[in-house]
Amino acid sequence: MFLTHTKLSGFFPIYLQRLLFCLIAIGIMMLFVASTTDDRPRNFKPFPCYMDPDDHNTDTGDGPIRLQDVLRAYIKPAPGKTIFFHETRCHPPGSKYIMNLTARQACSIESAALHNPNFQVFVLFASPTYLPKAEDPKLPLIEALQSYKNVHFRQLNIWRYAKGTPIEDWVNKGDLFESSFLTEHASDLMRLMSLYRYGGIYMDIDVVVLRSMENLPLNYVGAEDSETLCNAVLSLEPKGKGHEIAELFLREFQQHFNGQLYTNNGPSLMGRVTKKICNSTSIKDIVAASRNCNGFKVFNSTVFYPIPWPAWRRFVEPQYLNDTLATTKDSYLVHLWNKVSFEERIKVGENTAYGKFAHDHCPKVNAAAGEYF
Ligand SMILES: *[C@@H]1O[C@H](CO)[C@@H](O)[C@H](O)[C@H]1NC(C)=O
Ligand SMILES: *[C@@H]1O[C@H](CO)[C@@H](O)[C@H](O)[C@H]1NC(C)=O
Ligand SMILES: *[C@@H]1O[C@H](CO)[C@@H](O)[C@H](O)[C@H]1NC(C)=O
Ligand SMILES: *[C@@H]1O[C@H](CO)[C@@H](O)[C@H](O)[C@H]1NC(C)=O
Repeated sequence: MFLTHTKLSGFFPIYLQRLLFCLIAIGIMMLFVASTTDDRPRNFKPFPCYMDPDDHNTDTGDGPIRLQDVLRAYIKPAPGKTIFFHETRCHPPGSKYIMNLTARQACSIESAALHNPNFQVFVLFASPTYLPKAEDPKLPLIEALQSYKNVHFRQLNIWRYAKGTPIEDWVNKGDLFESSFLTEHASDLMRLMSLYRYGGIYMDIDVVVLRSMENLPLNYVGAEDSETLCNAVLSLEPKGKGHEIAELFLREFQQHFNGQLYTNNGPSLMGRVTKKICNSTSIKDIVAASRNCNGFKVFNSTVFYPIPWPAWRRFVEPQYLNDTLATTKDSYLVHLWNKVSFEERIKVGENTAYGKFAHDHCPKVNAAAGEYF
């Protein structure tokens, strides 16, 4: 019940009356603003690193310009004709993280764009990310990549990205953020969401693409040895079988998520779901036969992982050059196992397999990298 003006003035001095009306008005306005602009789900559990303080603010004035959101930008991933990279590191909210890449990451992106000109390459940042201002010093690696018309940098908002996928409620619940390996587990999940939404090809950001993958029919995964699948490369069609498999992956991810086990939600997940698709209990049998299970192809290690992770030094030591080039001659791409190799600085132009790959498959980044990769 509202008090009338006369009753109210009997109890309160006039300035208190005005204050009261002001407070009520502000309260109503705030409710209105909250209900119209906050499209975050009610039950969502926030996680600071992936939250965008400027999410509803498109006009950033003088500040750095935010990367466009993948779902809101005019140019969106082309279904079935997109290569996805995900960068899921956590940048503290308010830090206004300026988009930056290491030379090796940039090389992955360039090699994918160079060899697949009819595919769009989308590089998606999970934390709020900003572009350098016009007057800031240029980042040569970013400029090298921006010279490719098919490279697109975007950010994503994980809660919005999950919306309408089978894993939406689970993401809102926040279990992912309890993970001991958040960067990796978020990446394991986001690649599945991208393939569920758009289909195409996902690649880890520590690969070098050696030849076109445009004619490789979608729907595949690769083995890293005779009995283990890896999720550094995964392809699914946007519709039909591929989309059904994306749903299987997402449901399995949610059902058996474990934040304490590093490989549980990535490589192991690939194995569990592939066994179901192939109706087999043995990955070893599936890999040995390079089986195509109802349209889902399982490649052996030659195709994406010709050098196994314990042998990663074969990419960076001159003595292995010839041997490594021979071992990788039939591969579509190589995976550099950044998890174990990232500390090694690789001198640009050196006579190593990586040096040769960079020279041939990411020429602009190779020229812009400076002294070391
Ligand atoms: C970008 O990253 C490179 C390599 O990690 C680093 O050397 C450089 O300082 C970074 N630049 C900015 C502006 O953050
Ligand atoms: C799966 O394999 C088992 C035994 O290998 C067989 O009995 C079963 O019929 C197969 N199921 C399908 C759906 O193919
Ligand atoms: C992978 O399969 C191809 C033929 O499909 C074969 O030539 C190659 O030796 C196999 N690689 C391994 C590591 O088994
Ligand atoms: C690698 O092969 C080239 C010619 O193909 C040869 O000249 C060179 O000596 C070889 N290097 C090593 C380390 O075997």
